[in-house]
Order: sequence, then structure tokens, then C-alpha cells
Amino acid sequence: MIKEHSIVIAGGGSTFTPEIILMLLDNLDKFPIRQIKLYDNDAHRQKIVADACEIIIREQAPHISFTATDSPEIGFSDIDFVMAHIRVGKYEMREKDEKIPLKYNVIGQETCGPGGISYGLRSITGVIEIIDYMEKYSPNAWMLNYSNPASIVAEATRKLRPNSRILNICDHPIGLENRMAKMADLESRKDLIVRYYGLNHFGWYTSVTDKEGNDLMPQIRSYIAENGFNLNAIGKESRNADPSWIHTYDMAKFVYELDPQTIPNTYLKYYLFPNKEVDIADSNHTRANEVMEGREKTVFEECIAITNNGTAKETTLKIGAHATYIVDLARALSYNTKERMLIMVENNGAISNFEPSAMVEIPCLVGSNGPEPLSIGEIPTFQKGLMENQVAVEKLAVEAYVEGSKQKLFQALSLSKTIPGADVAKELLEDLYEANKEYWPVLQ
Ligand code: NAD
Ligand code: G6P
Ligand code: MN
Repeated sequence: MIKEHSIVIAGGGSTFTPEIILMLLDNLDKFPIRQIKLYDNDAHRQKIVADACEIIIREQAPHISFTATDSPEIGFSDIDFVMAHIRVGKYEMREKDEKIPLKYNVIGQETCGPGGISYGLRSITGVIEIIDYMEKYSPNAWMLNYSNPASIVAEATRKLRPNSRILNICDHPIGLENRMAKMADLESRKDLIVRYYGLNHFGWYTSVTDKEGNDLMPQIRSYIAENGFNLNAIGKESRNADPSWIHTYDMAKFVYELDPQTIPNTYLKYYLFPNKEVDIADSNHTRANEVMEGREKTVFEECIAITNNGTAKETTLKIGAHATYIVDLARALSYNTKERMLIMVENNGAISNFEPSAMVEIPCLVGSNGPEPLSIGEIPTFQKGLMENQVAVEKLAVEAYVEGSKQKLFQALSLSKTIPGADVAKELLEDLYEANKEYWPVLQ
């Protein structure tokens, strides 16, 4: 008999929860579910989403039992998978992470540079708390974590909970691969086989072929050299992307110039073109504002409409199609499919000339014992240099958290390629520390 799974979504009040529920419901034939729970430490925010999700589930799959709770015991008992997407400090703090650095002409970004470090020191506490709930109430469960900033969170979980069944993952390569498939006239990323290595939001594709092994790199590279990751040139822009994302996809053509043999992750623009990013930023209106006025508003209004109408039949909420990798990952763990997926894992020799204890994002074969990393071999000096710098920043940030060391956080910020000097790092440190009083550990 095929196993029916029980899932808790941690961060149930997330803007991404409805599209993930719709995606799970769309894949019940591949991944049967008997129970879905939402868990959030903000019961009020979660209720808006949960009331709508309850209606969606009742209409599409009434056999699935549904609960929304802020009780860890109720949320994490009898669970096979924890799907975690929490945002400690919510958008209010994201806005500060983005706006404080801009005061110093430094990039303000959710996961990169000082904003990412600031968010990292908040997230560690929340993610560790969720691992501990899972281990207490459902010790055999797996946690699929996409709470950001994933690289700092991954390093913290490696260090603080080395034996936990947590996999840190990112959806960004999925989106980029869907785009590359379209550039190569293929339907979806599932038609591609890729080789990629790096850190989270910090990596490069070294090979893209079709299922028969035909090299697609020349076609994709020449497209990216002209258009970055923007699909407008072939009329295949899949999502109505916000202007900030269009800009990011466009910037990829400049990042690409640094190593035309590979295809870069778009997030590298923050490290390679920080000044350009600061120049175009509006310090009064950052991505956090764009999301609050866009995705958050739309999703919450739509959830309220579903609840008021008592039905989701007419809803405009969309399935999170590219989030299907979460189902693939859960299936791989549950059914031992050995699917090849990008996961953040301890390097441990996979990149042979790189720090063994670094958390790297590389292809792994995922089965019921977790991910088996594929061997990458030696990487070139350019990538190695960038990655060594960034890994040191992330490790210092986690050490600062664990040891309560302000000195180490000063070092982390000073080392970040996004910050021009230690004097700026010092001022930023004080400003961010003050803003995060409620969330960071005490630093001395
Ligand atoms: P959101 O603010 O809408 O939702 C986050 C939810 O987490 C909120 O309801 C909040 O109350 C809850 N929360 C905060 N701290 C918590 C805690 N300690 N325990 C339980 N719940 C807690 O945020 P969002 O924009 O929907 O994003 C959610 C998360 O997913 C973010 O971390 C975001 O960066 C991440 N994300 C990651 C990827 C990826 O590629 N890894 C992709 C998309 C989103
Ligand atoms: C991509 C990244 C995520 C990040 C998200 C930001 O999907 O992989 O890690 O959280 O973009 O999106 P947003 O719309 O919130 O700026
Ligand atoms: Mn990501």
C-alpha cells in the first residue's frame, strides 16, 4: 500500500503557503497526503491564510485532515515532513535589512551582504527551534527548509544540529533552469541535466545538456550574453515579473562576462556590481515594499475573499508550479527515488580544492537516507576566490551568533565583498545590532 503522508508547513502564515498547498493538492497522485497542518508563531497572521486553505482543501481533497495551530506539540506531532519557510521578524525587519545598509551606500538585500547577515542572525534561532520541535514530537520526520538566508541557516544547522534530518534548499536554480529550458526550445527544466556548484545564491552552471546528452550550453550562453535571463526576446516571459526581477535577469549578462564558460546565478550581481545596485536602489522603497504592496497584499486579499465567499472555485491564487521540486524532494526521501537535485550539503571533498566543512550547493542523488553528493572536482581560481571569501563571511556570522561575539560579526561584515571598508562595517554593525535587539543574541 502506498504511504499517505502527514505534513506540517512551518511559517503557515507565509505568502507562499497557499500556492504550496495548491501545488501539493495538484500532485496527490505522485505524493499522497492524509494530513496537512499549518504552524506559525503568529496565530493572527496565519489564520487569514489558514481559513482559506481549509476551504481549498475541503473542496479539492476532503479526505485530508487540516489543522492550523501555534502549538508546537499539535503542529509537530505525527508528522513525516516539515516544510519550513519562516521569516523571523517578518517584512518589518526585511525592510530594515534592506534600508539600513543603503544609508551607507551599501546594497540592501534579503539574503546577500549586511541584510543577509542581519536576517541570518534572526533566522538561526527560529530554524533551530523548529528542528527541536520536530525531533521532540516526530523524531523520524524530515525537515525541508527553505527559510532564508539559506546559506547562513545551513552553516548554523551543520554546526549546531549536525545529525538532524534537515535539508536546506533553494528554488532559485529551478526558476533559472526553467528559463534555460525555454532558451533551448524545451518545455521545462525536467528536460535538462545540469552540473552546478557554488554556495547558496552564489554559484555557476558548468554544463547543461538535454536528456540525450546533447550540449545546450552554446545556445544558452549566446542567449544570456545578449539578454541575461530575460525571456522577453523570445516572448516566453513566464511570470509577470516585477521590475526589480526584470532588472536582475538583465544584470546576468554582465555577470556572465566574467566567466563566459559558465552560466552564473543571478545573485552574484550583488557581489560583483554592488555600486551599480546601490545606484539604482531607492532607499525609501525597496523590495520589501514591493512585496508588501504586491504579493503580500494580493495573497492576503485573495485569502479573505475565499473565506468570505466560502469557496475557492473562482480564486485567482495560482499553483506554485516551480515549487514542485519540493514534492520531488519529499518523494525522493519517502520512496528512495535517487532523483538528482541541488541541495546544500557539507562539501566534504566534493569540490576537491575547497574547504571540506563549507556548506555548498551541488547536485546530489536523494534517497531514503538523504542526499548523496556528486563529485565536482577542482574549481577555477576565480570562483574559488569568491567562494572562499563568502564562506568565511558566513562562518564568521554563525560563529558570532554561537559565541555571542561582536568582534566576529565585525570581521564578517568587514570581510563581505559588498561593504567597502571596516569603518563602514563598524557603523553598520552598531545600526543593525540596535535594529535587531529583539531578535539577535546578546553580542559582547
Ligand atoms: P512571510 O513573512 O509572508 O511568512 C513567514 C511566516 O513565518 C510569517 O507568517 C511569520 O509569522 C512566520 N514566522 C516567523 N518566525 C517564526 C517562528 N519562529 N516560528 C514559526 N513561524 C514563524 O514570508 P515569505 O515572503 O512568504 O517568505 C517565507 C520564507 O521563505 C522567507 O524566509 C523567504 O526568504 C523564504 N523563501 C525561500 C526561498 C528559497 O529559495 N529558499 C524561496 C522563497 C521564499
Ligand atoms: C528567490 C530566492 C529566494 C528568495 C526569493 C525572494 O526565489 O531563491 O531565496 O527568498 O527569490 O523573492 P521576493 O519576491 O520575496 O523578493
Ligand atoms: Mn533561494
